[in-house]
Amino acid sequence: MANNMNEPSTVQKSVDFIKGIQSLLPKPFTAKVAMILGSGLGTVTEQAEVLAEISYSDIPGFPETGVAGHSGSVLLTLMNGHPLIILNGRIHFYEQGDASAMAPVIATLKGLGVETLILTNAAGSLLNAAPGSVMMIKDYINFTGQSPLFGVADNNRFVSMSKAYDAQYRYQLRQVAEKNNIHLAQGVYAWMVGPQFETPAEIRAIRMMGADAVGMSTVPETILARYHDMKVAALSIITNYGAGMEDVRLSHEQTLEYAPKAAAKVHVLISGFLDYLYI
Ligand code: HPA
Repeated sequence: MANNMNEPSTVQKSVDFIKGIQSLLPKPFTAKVAMILGSGLGTVTEQAEVLAEISYSDIPGFPETGVAGHSGSVLLTLMNGHPLIILNGRIHFYEQGDASAMAPVIATLKGLGVETLILTNAAGSLLNAAPGSVMMIKDYINFTGQSPLFGVADNNRFVSMSKAYDAQYRYQLRQVAEKNNIHLAQGVYAWMVGPQFETPAEIRAIRMMGADAVGMSTVPETILARYHDMKVAALSIITNYGAGMEDVRLSHEQTLEYAPKAAAKVHVLISGFLDYLYI
């Protein structure tokens, strides 16, 4: 698969384009934090003061997304008064079979000066986190055999994943959760290719192998962010139990129904986390 991470000119065009829009804002805007919203979490943007919204299709070099619940835009916002770039919509591996689809986006964030990436997703629960609850990701297992770094030719591609999700960030998010009486589960996220949901046998297998939640995203962006030396925090919104764990037919509609139920909790967690990051 083509990997244009090493084409700085394309990334520079995206960076310049977004900086051009930033310069039109009434007050200077520099964000050191960005957040990618998972399926059904679009309502989180309603809690932010949106200063500008830029469609992915208007940004040179940005990919387009076609999944319902992912509109595909960059929002320059203030959340709880703090600058936050929100990416409303991500490209998944299953759309084109390309794990590096988000590479231009993450490289652009780096070019804009982002140091911290907050990832959110919708996920199936493999243990006791119930639909509507939030699980903080402490580690992942990549069950896809894919990497967004295929084709990258520099030595930075051998990126250490031993601390994929920052321990200090996890501590801070737990503190915010405790302070606000939010139950925050913690666990290991399994990345499966999708777009089909798992079989009950697959769910049993990945449970045995140490996964606590399962989904079709987040891991490629984690790898890309670590490649660019950004720190990462990630939250899974539990929208269902894994296949075979309860008698319901899994569907994207169920994901879109349950994810918004956790949006208010995500907003509280992120607002408190931003207070810490912008001290
Ligand atoms: N499996 C994979 N991805 C998902 C699920 C699931 O059960 N729920 C939400 N996204």
